[in-house]
Amino acid sequence: MSFKEGFLWGGALAANQCEGAWDVDGKGVSCVDICTIGSSTKPRRITPQIEKDTFYPNQEAIDFYHRYKEDIALFAEMGFKILRLSIAWTRIFPTGEEMEPNEKGLEFYDNLIDECLKYNIEPLITLSHYEMPYALTQKYNGWASREMINIFMKYCNVLFTRFKGKVKYWLTFNEINSATGTHGSFLPQGILNEGSTHFKNMVDIPQLRYQGLHHQFVASALAVKLAHEIDDNYKVGCMQLFATAYPLTCDPDDIVETQTRNHIRNWFCGDVQVRGSYPKYMDRFFIENNIKIEMQEDDLRILKEGTADFYSFSYYMSICYSSKPDQEQVEANMLKGLKNPYLKASDWGWQIDPKGLRYSLNEIYDRYQIPLMLVENGLGAYDEIDQNGKIEDDYRIEYLRQHVEQMKEAVNDGVDLIAYTPWGCIDIVSAFTGEMSKRYGFIYVDKQNDGSGTLDRYKKKSFDWYKKVIATNGESL
Ligand code: BG6
Repeated sequence: MSFKEGFLWGGALAANQCEGAWDVDGKGVSCVDICTIGSSTKPRRITPQIEKDTFYPNQEAIDFYHRYKEDIALFAEMGFKILRLSIAWTRIFPTGEEMEPNEKGLEFYDNLIDECLKYNIEPLITLSHYEMPYALTQKYNGWASREMINIFMKYCNVLFTRFKGKVKYWLTFNEINSATGTHGSFLPQGILNEGSTHFKNMVDIPQLRYQGLHHQFVASALAVKLAHEIDDNYKVGCMQLFATAYPLTCDPDDIVETQTRNHIRNWFCGDVQVRGSYPKYMDRFFIENNIKIEMQEDDLRILKEGTADFYSFSYYMSICYSSKPDQEQVEANMLKGLKNPYLKASDWGWQIDPKGLRYSLNEIYDRYQIPLMLVENGLGAYDEIDQNGKIEDDYRIEYLRQHVEQMKEAVNDGVDLIAYTPWGCIDIVSAFTGEMSKRYGFIYVDKQNDGSGTLDRYKKKSFDWYKKVIATNGESL
């Protein structure tokens, strides 16, 4: 037993982290375009006015906008069957509210998708990946406003119509459940409350985040319905940040604490998007946190009618929870939790846990019984070009090998996993720190944290390793 024939091996990218060309061909300003570089110790700043002499790493990124042909040829050389891309909303509707879409932006994605299809690479398109038009933040405070639903549907309608017959798989909102945490409001939801100046101390209004999530759920369900109406071959998935959580000890208090947090962080959004209704455990959470979700009459029906065709998620690490405070903390991405004494961590403190992936795949599949795609996974690490011009990233190969082994175990456990797209298959800008030095790729890009570099691409050792994995459908690891 092993991966089924036709398993979709590939890689994943997001427009805002790779394309650059932030003000080219009519593109509008997105939320991330106004974020400065940070690091693991220094948070990215949000500057509503672009500051002269400040470095904004997403504005050029790795210039995928002009180099995608070269990059896709390299992905094809590795044997990719699928490429997860996102569309920059601001290339299609620069402020979100134009009457007509920007033809230049649509043309770019026509060409990009055609380039994938030329190599028989299936495009998997995320509609919204951490880069909504900043104008919508200014006017509506992002998804806090219900107006966003219609604005988003107009955008979806244009894309579903334009790419009919070319694209099969879509994702609505990247890591939608990141908005269950305090850092999840700005990039994922475009919510920027007065006084928020950087990623670490966002002024948090939970009511707005959860109301925003409700609007996103309705929009996502409407998008599923619309996609099916436009093309019955379309498959639309949800996308969750899955951060496997263990109780720190077998103390029943730790177990209950972990279950409660898991409900909110890992299960709530998936439950709404896959099962089509709000889970009962949220009633208590909303009461205890003084959150009141405003709904319109049809909303619950819409949620029921627009459930996801498949479930996709990111998996990088696991964390622990305890009922007792004062334990050693770890922080990664938008997550905070406790240190697991059995695990090692990456240079950025993300706890590496391949078996947690097998466990999570089983948990998710047991719960939903629909096909799963693992659409982000990987090791952010420092890479160096040695004297012979090589990048020997054995640490990355090891990380990926161990995770693929556990995927295989899960498949043998009976999980219907249909795709694997490791994150940042070519080096891109880090979402949370803005660094280039946090590299995930099979392909090295000569671009440094200060913006210097030739942007030339170099294959890493992991490039050949992954090529063989794909060629053998996961047998040669
Ligand atoms: C995920 C996001 O949460 O984590 C990606 O969907 C992001 O956009 C990835 O890049 C890794 O995070 P980082 O900060 O290492 O780029």
